[in-house]
Amino acid sequence: MKIAASFLSCPKIKPAIEKLSLTDVEYIHIDLVDGTLNKGRKIPLRKLKKIYKYTSKPLDVHLMVKKPKKYIKTFASLNTETITFPIEIENGIEANIDLIHSYGIKCGIAINHDTEISRLKPFLDKIDSVLVMSIIPGYGGQKFIEETPKKISTLQNMIKKMKLNISVCVDGGINNETVKLIKNVNMIVVGSYITNSNDYQKQVDMIRKSIK
Ligand code: DX5
Ligand code: ZN
Repeated sequence: MKIAASFLSCPKIKPAIEKLSLTDVEYIHIDLVDGTLNKGRKIPLRKLKKIYKYTSKPLDVHLMVKKPKKYIKTFASLNTETITFPIEIENGIEANIDLIHSYGIKCGIAINHDTEISRLKPFLDKIDSVLVMSIIPGYGGQKFIEETPKKISTLQNMIKKMKLNISVCVDGGINNETVKLIKNVNMIVVGSYITNSNDYQKQVDMIRKSIK
């Protein structure tokens, strides 16, 4: 299971990214909220654009915006492996998938806890990953939503039935306890559990130990 580290709860971005870069997490997770789809911590785009300068780790970009198209080109020019946008944007889903793929970047779709998994079905054969939200998007430091594991198995069954090979990722409220409930996914996003500590690697190790 890979780990993408989120710095959304950190007051200062640069030192947090530099510290995360010294750990063995596989990705730096970038959360972009612009207020068009949900509330949350808005980190200005000009700051997010600089992140690749502070780390050599690949970026995992999570757009929480109504119009992903506005931001795709910018992130495609950085060291980005995947760009994920929410199914809840409703319009232009295929066009955004195509645009992300046109840059040779992987495409993910995020889904909120209160959105039916069946909404993903028409797009599953076109994308590389699904990001199951285990908190309400917008802020780090929230409590893991208990129904998430059930949602994940519904999704995994659907993927299996459709004979697809796509990654299942989970974002929000993950710590050394909640991670045990979602052991069988491909990637987890972990923020405050790592960054609220002084010893980032120790927290990463605790997570990895919990899933063994
Ligand atoms: C919330 C973000 C998450 C968040 C995770 O909108 O998508 O990536 O930062 O942080 P924690 O692990 O603190 O819930
Ligand atoms: Zn996120």
